[in-house]
Amino acid sequence: MSAAQGRPVRRRFSADTTIDDLKAYMEPFAGSLGYKFNTEEWFVDEVLASEIGILDATGDVYCPCRMRTGNPKEDVAIVCPCIPFHNVQFAAMRKCWCGLFILNDVEDGADLLGVIEEPEKGAEVEVPVCRVEDMPAGSVRHVKVGKRDIALARVGDEFYALSNVCLHAFGPLSGGVLDGHTVVCPWHGWRYDVRTGTTDHPGADVKTYPVVVRDGLVLVVTTV
Ligand code: SF4
Ligand code: FES
Repeated sequence: MSAAQGRPVRRRFSADTTIDDLKAYMEPFAGSLGYKFNTEEWFVDEVLASEIGILDATGDVYCPCRMRTGNPKEDVAIVCPCIPFHNVQFAAMRKCWCGLFILNDVEDGADLLGVIEEPEKGAEVEVPVCRVEDMPAGSVRHVKVGKRDIALARVGDEFYALSNVCLHAFGPLSGGVLDGHTVVCPWHGWRYDVRTGTTDHPGADVKTYPVVVRDGLVLVVTTV
């Protein structure tokens, strides 16, 4: 049936999309965020088969374990892999809601099947945000950690995380340039030390977050 006959339009996938196609599409993206497919291959195949059914019915690979609202702007947060939208909860649970993806360092995904433990409020969590190799020295980029907008900076081999919002007029610090350990706001040039979040302007320091580098991944430490 064509779109003109009322069938949903597939935005990214052809009509004969297979489980292997979905694996090839999702694996590198999830890998860049510190996740891998569950080690239980039968389970991965079951979830992806469900997603293909949902793709046929709706036009996209919405999550099999979440309710769609019908509002595309809201539902984009449950298109698979939805890791960037829920990275704090998933890092705390060590898996995505469905268990299709688990953190790279989880050895046995069977341990996490069916267990949905929403993290305790206030718990500290290390949230993977990118691979070391994806961020050259001297660069700064925007990362989203839960609802927080963070500027992630690399100086030499060290990584630093600070609020992305300049307190002069709310410019995006991730759009600025690095001068040693200083990030220069792209809008009017206020300068912030990426190690401390301090600036020369009184009362305008920004929050910083600890950063851990492990197994080739950069993880920002925050609370749920
Ligand atoms: S919870 Fe897991 S299976 Fe569901 S959309 Fe997110 S990543 Fe995909
Ligand atoms: S908004 Fe950053 S310097 Fe003005």
